[in-house]
Amino acid sequence: METNLLFFLFFPSLPLSLFLLLPFSSSQIMQGFVSLDCGGSESFTDDIGLDWTPDNKLTYGEISTISVVNETRKQYTTLRHFPADSRKYCYTLDVISRTRYLLRASFLYGNFDNNNVYPKFDISVGATHWSTIVISDANIIEMRELIFLASSSTVSVCLSNATTGQPFISTLELRQFNGSIYYTQFEQQFYLSVSARINFGAETDAPIRYPDDPFDRIWESDSVKKANYLVDVAVGTEKVSTNVPILVNRDDVPPVKVMQTAVVGTNGSLTYRLNLDGFPGNAWAVTYFAEIEDLSPNESRKFRLVLPGQPEISKAIVNIEENAFGKYRLYEPGFTNLSLPFVLSFKFAKTPDSSKGPLVNAMEINKYLEKNDGSPDVEAISGVLSHYSSANWTQEGGDPCLPVPWSWIRCSSDPQPRIISILLSGKNLTGNIPSDITKLVGLVELWLDGNMLTGPIPDFTGCMDLKIIHLENNQFNGVLPASLANLPSLRELYVQNNMLSGEVPPHLLSKDLILNYSGNTNLHKQSRIKSHMYIIIGSAVGASVLLLATVISCLVIHKGKRRYYEKDHIVSAVPTQRPDSWKSDDPAEAAHCFSLAEIETATNNFEKRIGSGGFGIVYYGKLKEGKEIAVKVLRNNSYQGKREFSNEVTLLSRIHHRNLVQLIGYCREEENSILVYEFMHNGTLKEHLYGTLEHGRSINWIKRLEIAEDAAKGIEYLHTGCVPVVIHRDLKTSNILLDRQMRAKVSDFGLSKLAVDGVSHVSSIVRGTVGYLDPEYYISQQLTDKSDVYSFGVILLELISGQEAISNESFGLHCRNIVQWAKLHIESGDIQGIIDPLLGSNYDLQSMWKIAEKALMCVQPHGDMRPSISEVLKEIQDAISIEKEAETLREGNSDEASRNSFQSSMNIGSMDLGRAESFLSIDESIAQPTAR
Ligand SMILES: *[C@@H]1O[C@H](CO)[C@@H](O)[C@H](O)[C@H]1NC(C)=O
Ligand SMILES: *[C@@H]1O[C@H](CO)[C@@H](O)[C@H](O)[C@H]1NC(C)=O
Ligand SMILES: *[C@@H]1O[C@H](CO)[C@@H](O)[C@H](O)[C@H]1NC(C)=O
Ligand SMILES: *[C@@H]1O[C@H](CO)[C@@H](O)[C@H](O)[C@H]1NC(C)=O
Ligand SMILES: *[C@@H]1O[C@H](CO)[C@@H](O)[C@H](O)[C@H]1NC(C)=O
Ligand SMILES: *[C@@H]1O[C@H](CO)[C@@H](O)[C@H](O)[C@H]1NC(C)=O
Repeated sequence: METNLLFFLFFPSLPLSLFLLLPFSSSQIMQGFVSLDCGGSESFTDDIGLDWTPDNKLTYGEISTISVVNETRKQYTTLRHFPADSRKYCYTLDVISRTRYLLRASFLYGNFDNNNVYPKFDISVGATHWSTIVISDANIIEMRELIFLASSSTVSVCLSNATTGQPFISTLELRQFNGSIYYTQFEQQFYLSVSARINFGAETDAPIRYPDDPFDRIWESDSVKKANYLVDVAVGTEKVSTNVPILVNRDDVPPVKVMQTAVVGTNGSLTYRLNLDGFPGNAWAVTYFAEIEDLSPNESRKFRLVLPGQPEISKAIVNIEENAFGKYRLYEPGFTNLSLPFVLSFKFAKTPDSSKGPLVNAMEINKYLEKNDGSPDVEAISGVLSHYSSANWTQEGGDPCLPVPWSWIRCSSDPQPRIISILLSGKNLTGNIPSDITKLVGLVELWLDGNMLTGPIPDFTGCMDLKIIHLENNQFNGVLPASLANLPSLRELYVQNNMLSGEVPPHLLSKDLILNYSGNTNLHKQSRIKSHMYIIIGSAVGASVLLLATVISCLVIHKGKRRYYEKDHIVSAVPTQRPDSWKSDDPAEAAHCFSLAEIETATNNFEKRIGSGGFGIVYYGKLKEGKEIAVKVLRNNSYQGKREFSNEVTLLSRIHHRNLVQLIGYCREEENSILVYEFMHNGTLKEHLYGTLEHGRSINWIKRLEIAEDAAKGIEYLHTGCVPVVIHRDLKTSNILLDRQMRAKVSDFGLSKLAVDGVSHVSSIVRGTVGYLDPEYYISQQLTDKSDVYSFGVILLELISGQEAISNESFGLHCRNIVQWAKLHIESGDIQGIIDPLLGSNYDLQSMWKIAEKALMCVQPHGDMRPSISEVLKEIQDAISIEKEAETLREGNSDEASRNSFQSSMNIGSMDLGRAESFLSIDESIAQPTAR
């Protein structure tokens, strides 16, 4: 079979002749395989027998050669990279419509640009955002795989939106599947994005792929930690293998070699934890079992799958031999639609009456990725393109509007964007205006001036939104169509310097319109009709107004807003000043100003000291009306001017949130700067974690999660609810206070400087507490909200471990810092090693992992890699719901064995992909046909 591979790649300086059709013959054996060596220079066959084709006939993009230790595969010694601009760069591959494919893109950075920031950019398939490629190690290959049903004869893969570094690509591979493999009933609306494909009990670290797998799927070895961080392996997990061929009986199942190895939980269970890229989401998940051990007649192997939070699933029992109707035969139960979290902890646990532990050979988990159908104007614009197929601007590839529009198009921001502007001035266009242009119903601006277009001006009544039409400096003939006058929005019409003839339609002249029809020798105004208003016929004045109009409309377009030439809109396009809520002088809002005498009375002359911190000492007090207060006496140098002080305090007292300690008032007398806060009965979080035994050190995991949730809500409010944004700068466990109900509030936020509105950072003297201080802030002195996220990450680690942020003893020899210590453990999968022993076993491992992973994200060295506090909050809330469910399970531990088989239960009936929680329903599922 002859496969044509089209590279449609867009590069600004590309000569026309470079868009090539590169035909190549694929060998008989690899029908439907395309293996593209990006940046390569010659075709070659690799060690495993794959034929690679270079994209070297293209002179756009740039190629780089890299060298990475222990990576000798030729396709990974080169790559192609693209400018980090606002455009998209697409490869378009030929496919057979109605056929399923595996699409694989890989990225080995190899520090090709000697840049100290790693690239981050987006990859899309057609109009659908596929993934964001984030390089975090120069020597590790990032890989993305997608399974799709081709709906047309090409598929385009585009790189765009470089947020750091330059977009690049190492390989692009297409593998055609056979028959109904990976059929799902959602495949018209969803792609399957591959998250995990694991070969359990693998004999080496090497993945199994072609030629063992005829479709060249890559089955990762479970012995490689990198494979989705497959960690938390149960004690007693052992590898088993056989040489007996496994009867797989179908074309699409795992290769026999994958099925010949497995793991067995000799102590009764197999447990794993796995990171699922792109999740939470809806999954297509299948496990592959084959009995490959010789069990004696009195032995049995029966087990259940246990997923946290999904008790329904564990009702079904697997008995491989029975389910597969014999030994060495495949049994492949699966879920076609299952909601899964990012961190998946799963367990296969033997039933009490089983003599052998569970066994698993392989599994696959794919995420449903919703397709974006793209612009509804695709068909019309393709018609336009077909007229000019040799011009480089027709070859940009991908969707006209998504993820970013072609260079000569502008689109609306609707989910299904419409083309609103065509900008083809001076492109040497010849012939008639393609009639397909008039099918672009959303068109607002049309720029076709300065071409060599001939023929009549078409009827634009299909484009009722047209506002601006530039047809000047062409060779149009015929009349100026009267239908133009019917366009309700038309404001500017330029047809000068053409070969139009006849009369200017009177309705056009009477319209409120900028109209230029000069330079058309045979085009006349009907003499009796008086023109109104803005008719400009090539006079000097007219020309300058025209110029002005053009300049203004370009400026408006340039702003990227969907705004067009309309006088009042131009004004509104200027960003409106945000009202500065800090500057209000409304005395009603001011904080209460206490006299020193009042304070002295309230605190009984500063009798009871309840705390101290970086900013000063805190005393207990009680106001006359009985309200309890905390009085913070600031160190002398905290604030200089009295005016500044009261200003600042006024601002802070306006911040009200149930998770922020309320500032009630202040006192500024005799060199004293005093702040008066609401009193918090249960002291600081620090005391509860490490303090005296008076407080009992007894807060359990769910309580800790709730405290984290409260604090995160307070911080979120500072970051997102205040104008300007307030950055706390000194978050720590001693600044998280607990009220009577043990709900947490954040304190001391007022004492940080306020962030400058509209700027992402403010430079100021580094201030904070050792152990909590964002290293990036420390180095750069650039303070952002992500500095608070760092400190919050440290707090989360303290909540998990019950260890202080800095310690000389706790963390081992070379480590004083909780971050380094926790990172070491968490990244190697050993979370048990850091969990506070005081928590006992009263926590759910999955919720613990959730928090641990998020905490690590928070303490990433670079701010832009850290999540926002809102994301952290969401994760905490998820952990709380997991924990609550687990708690109920721990209490009412009724694991009633069910008669249902695993098979029937696993074939899920719920098909609502939109809903996050689509759990199994046994009744429904029995009625459903099997998944595969
Ligand atoms: C097409 O080619 C012209 C002339 O070489 C160049 O100026 C223009 O930028 C190219 N346009 C695109 C979209 O590549
Ligand atoms: C490269 O491979 C050699 C030999 O297998 C091994 O000793 C070495 O640690 C590897 N280096 C890296 C950076 O992986
Ligand atoms: C570009 O990437 C940034 C960061 O990943 C993302 O927030 C933004 O939505 C992306 N823009 C587009 C047009 O996809
Ligand atoms: C595809 O399916 C056909 C028939 O179903 C089979 O003969 C062929 O070997 C299959 N191809 C591969 C690569 O498995
Ligand atoms: C696992 O089983 C082995 C023997 O079957 C036993 O020695 C060992 O203590 C068990 N380990 C655990 C953690 O149960
Ligand atoms: C248009 O055509 C002329 C003559 O054929 C050529 O000189 C010019 O470079 C072309 N312009 C563009 C933008 O392709």
